[in-house]
Amino acid sequence: MELQADFIVVGGGIAGLRALASLVGRGDILLLTKAGPAESNTGYAQGGIAAAIGPDDSPELHLADTLAAGAGLCDRAAVDLLVHEGPRYVRELVEWGVPFDRDPDGEPALAREGAHSVRRVLHARDVTGREIARTLWQRGGGAAGVRVLHDALATTIDVVGGECRGVRFVCGDGRTGVAHARAVLLATGGAGRVFRETTNPAVATGDGLAMAYRCGARVSDLEFVQFHPTVLSAPGAARFLLSEALRGEGARLVNADGDAFMTRYDPAGDLAQRDVVATAMVREQMRTGRAVYLSLAHLDAGRVRARFPTIAQVCASAGLDLAKDALPVSPAAHYMCGGVDTDLEGRTSIPGLFAAGEVACTGVHGANRLASNSLLEGLVVGARAADAMAAPPVPVRLRPLRVAPAEAQDTAAAASATHADDMVRGLADDVVADVPAAMWEGAGLVRDAEGLRRTLAVVGAASRR
Ligand code: SIN
Repeated sequence: MELQADFIVVGGGIAGLRALASLVGRGDILLLTKAGPAESNTGYAQGGIAAAIGPDDSPELHLADTLAAGAGLCDRAAVDLLVHEGPRYVRELVEWGVPFDRDPDGEPALAREGAHSVRRVLHARDVTGREIARTLWQRGGGAAGVRVLHDALATTIDVVGGECRGVRFVCGDGRTGVAHARAVLLATGGAGRVFRETTNPAVATGDGLAMAYRCGARVSDLEFVQFHPTVLSAPGAARFLLSEALRGEGARLVNADGDAFMTRYDPAGDLAQRDVVATAMVREQMRTGRAVYLSLAHLDAGRVRARFPTIAQVCASAGLDLAKDALPVSPAAHYMCGGVDTDLEGRTSIPGLFAAGEVACTGVHGANRLASNSLLEGLVVGARAADAMAAPPVPVRLRPLRVAPAEAQDTAAAASATHADDMVRGLADDVVADVPAAMWEGAGLVRDAEGLRRTLAVVGAASRR
């Protein structure tokens, strides 16, 4: 199959869909998604979207919180843009009909999450991402000039004479295709599935990152993987994210003796930065030799169940009462802070190739993303990338590269590439089955040089098979 469009968008999460909304009417658009319309990290995002819209908030406060969470490694200009532009794009979502929770006075209700100094996170119950994606699909998915191909996995970015000219893809029924366009947006999401323990859905295999790496695009900060502290780890039950919004509403981490331990590790307690909370949990598990739990038993049960209906239902199916029981939790890979390097309009180092959302690295997140900044980044940069794709090309100026150890870059990129290749070639699972375990054990939350070397050996061997 050979297709021609003005613009190609690869991926159906918030960044791709927001870009689509802006591209409509500016040319023919081809949108490729590797599964169905609901399958993206966005579609599963329980927690919300941060924006400085509250009366006690300001972009400057949001900036300070983001820089602090990023451990001194955020790109200040990128954060500055995000926090100043964010409110306008979030208000636009409100206008477009996303059913965010409301205060009694009708304003969007603002919740607290880890490392935010004020309430600034908008939610749509505990299915925020699903509601945003649904609204954006309605806006762009059926518009004139838009062709959507689901179950179409992009496999290669075509680069001719140093410029991106399109993508190659393979459909679910085995047909292959090539699509040509003057601009391609990669909005393919993250790579959580590279790790054995992850909050991410099956589609988050890092193939966009791998494709970009293989075609020569610059990537950075791949060592900065965020581990979400609270994933339900009930024996026999599927792993399931217990949103940080639960701790925002007062849930506490306790050890097996019921001791709320977080304040022993950080004065911000249960709402400390994610990396701090996840590491403290591991240390508490090692100290006690027993599991740690999330407890909401001290909160109003009716309110908890009304605010978090989906989470309550999943807990119930694991035989647990969200409002009453101690919920066994452990950290899992959640978000890739690094990715394909871009400027603040999504331009990569390859002319004609753009990236936005989790696959990209604008420098906003530094070493640790502030909770609920990722939907915001996908939204803002997705929209800006669309404008840049439709405008005449300009020379790309990326921020100076902070040099990461080459070995760390190779590990993450090779791991992602292994998964993408596996999907493309339809290889048996056992070819790469040892990669997620090796990544979890050697390149997970706790790392040392020996573990990283062991992981690199496993990943390297898998990618050569
Ligand atoms: C959560 O609901 O805890 C996840 C939100 C996020 O990752 O920003």
